Amino acid sequence: MKIIHIRYEDYRNLSAGEMSPDGGINVIFGKNAQGKTNLLEAMWLFTGGRSFRGSRDADLVARGRRRALLDLTFFSGEREQTARLAVEGGKRSAVLNGVPKRSAAGLVGVFCAVMFSPEHLALVRDGPVFRRNFMDTALCQIRPGYAVLLARYRHTLVQRNALLKDIPRHSELLGTLSVWDEKLARYGREIVKSREEYLTWISGPVRGIYAGICENREQIGLKYQKSAENLNEALLKNRAADIAAGHTGAGPHRDDLLIEIDGLSARAFGSQGQKRSAVLALKLAEAEVLFSRTGERPVVLLDDVMSELDAGRQDYLLNHLENCQVFITCCEADAVRRLRGGARFEMEAGVLRAR
Ligand SMILES: Nc1ncnc2c1ncn2[C@@H]1O[C@H](COP(=O)(O)OP(=O)(O)OP(=O)(O)O)[C@@H](O)[C@H]1O
Ligand SMILES: [Mg+2]
Repeated sequence: MKIIHIRYEDYRNLSAGEMSPDGGINVIFGKNAQGKTNLLEAMWLFTGGRSFRGSRDADLVARGRRRALLDLTFFSGEREQTARLAVEGGKRSAVLNGVPKRSAAGLVGVFCAVMFSPEHLALVRDGPVFRRNFMDTALCQIRPGYAVLLARYRHTLVQRNALLKDIPRHSELLGTLSVWDEKLARYGREIVKSREEYLTWISGPVRGIYAGICENREQIGLKYQKSAENLNEALLKNRAADIAAGHTGAGPHRDDLLIEIDGLSARAFGSQGQKRSAVLALKLAEAEVLFSRTGERPVVLLDDVMSELDAGRQDYLLNHLENCQVFITCCEADAVRRLRGGARFEMEAGVLRAR
């Protein structure tokens, strides 16, 4: 997977411009708030996923403008392809190789990328939602059907929760709960199965990469943690509690991924350095699994992570990504210590220049 060309118009603070990146490493440097992350975010949107900043679609359009437009030419599946994304009226639309898609989600699995920013430390440090999102985002890119499954599960969960809230006032509704339980359990089981399968794919690479980063001094391990062993049974057993709470207490929306270093939870016991290494290992392994499962090396977007890594980890990262196209943003032009080849760009007030 390689970006050949990207053009943008009225995307956040990027009013109009284009970029023809190198097939290897691209460094985009510039002062704060110039538009570096916005450019990576624009690339990321072609994965069909949502903004990694959790922004609403309407926020992507430059203030005071009507429509944001992004055009991408990329090499994938051994051919050159084009994609266009437009954001207008609070909605995204997509065209792939000249053919309009039903929604931007129609791009899922076509263009793939892995994003890594300092916020990803949350993956090890913070609540389970970040680890669930990690598994789900990766799975969506490998298996577009997974995105559909997730949407069905979420929809069913919303319906069941609404019903739980209504039951105390309308006891006659209790009888309809089992219909939603059955659906939720069915979708839920499939999600758990997929996530567990993903962990079997990624565990080996994560272990190998982590061992490489810490020179075999420590071992990392991943375990899927279910909120319920048997979802059908749990939904039935917890009914009274669910009705009292007005939401569903068990299911894949409550599961977690336990990350252990030498047998201890990295979240609870890991040092800063161990957490950073664990996130780096997870992200690099994510790229490796995408390649082994789809045959395409994802484009790697590294937002602001270089200055947080010491020389050893920087080297490890860049050596590991040797065959990928990489976009690195940073403030200082020389933040990437040992850059061989590649291209440099400077971002200033939304204008990109090759340097
Ligand atoms: N919809 C929008 N319209 C216009 N400007 C926007 C919009 N959304 C964000 N911006 C502006 O984009 C700028 C931030 O850009 P970005 O986050 O890409 O900066 P950056 O170069 O990555 O900076 P840093 O080095 O601090 O991470 C801010 O000035 C912000 O106000
Ligand atoms: Mg930034």
